[in-house]
Amino acid sequence: MPAAGKVLTWLRKKPGEYISGEELSRRLAVSRTAVWKHIHQLRAAGYVIEAVPHVGYCLLRAPDRLLPDEIANGLRTKRLGRKIFCYESTTSTNDRALQLAADGLPEGTLVAAEHQTRGRGRREREWLSPARCNLLFSLIFRPPWAAEQASRLTLMMAAAVAAAIHRETGLAVYIKWPNDIMIENAKVAGILTEMQAQADRIAFAVCGVGINVNSAPARARSYPARSLAKLVGRPVGRLVLLRRILHETDRLYAKTLSQGSRPVLDAWRQHADRNGARVRVAQPDGQVWSGRVMGVDENGALRLRLKNGEVKTLRSGEINRVLTKPERAAGERPRAC
Ligand code: BTN
Repeated sequence: MPAAGKVLTWLRKKPGEYISGEELSRRLAVSRTAVWKHIHQLRAAGYVIEAVPHVGYCLLRAPDRLLPDEIANGLRTKRLGRKIFCYESTTSTNDRALQLAADGLPEGTLVAAEHQTRGRGRREREWLSPARCNLLFSLIFRPPWAAEQASRLTLMMAAAVAAAIHRETGLAVYIKWPNDIMIENAKVAGILTEMQAQADRIAFAVCGVGINVNSAPARARSYPARSLAKLVGRPVGRLVLLRRILHETDRLYAKTLSQGSRPVLDAWRQHADRNGARVRVAQPDGQVWSGRVMGVDENGALRLRLKNGEVKTLRSGEINRVLTKPERAAGERPRAC
């Protein structure tokens, strides 16, 4: 809603104050009737705007909706979210972002949706989420890296999502290699990175993030899924959380571009789980490895010490069975409530 968006910008310039219809019409160079129409559109989108005759309009409350103006409001990032596309419903934000990236949209472009009809996760699993209560979004990256370094993006995204959730809720968040965001043994978020490479270099990559913010899918999975709201005992604001994630990611990505993988690995390790634990890792080809977790290498591959002492580096797969209790990462705080 570009024109209504301008009305919104002016209403936001004077928080708690009234701005007259006459002033709005002058500022926007449109008629008073057009101003009224835009106010109607904004109200229909969930904005609570008070209208006092002969005084003007005042914005009382904005909706927690994934709208470009709302996401951009207060966003102080250098690269991420400079262009924002929001859909009420789409097949998958990753599909949209991959298409937009192929069409030449710049790095940092954000694609968000209130609902996905074909949301997908790793290993061709579906990603289910009820409409309008969770976060479903994808970001376009164009790092000057070799294709094999793309998993850095997944680690970076996982670290940023974990840090933002922890800051917003106070909950102890940990990452189950490679990219499951967990709280109290339940999955609250997942990340799917997809890329296009040219001559072994990344042409573009898309990181898709799904977070069960206020509702977890009802259908059972291999392990329980929970929502942040359920865990923290109150509704969680999606816009605040999304902006936090964008800030964290923006900062971490800038550092990684200038310093290499170290900042990402450090951030990821702050939230990593299972270090030192004995685990079983299932690979996409069906092979299963058991061993002790030795951490990750500089590209985010899991290092596993096998029974015979050999250290195996696993680039793909997932930890599907924990044989001993994990050691929690240092510095994790207990639940805030
Ligand atoms: C996983 O844990 O398997 C990854 C899940 C990733 C889901 C997100 S939701 C937004 C984006 N669009 C998709 O279709 N998938 C990702």
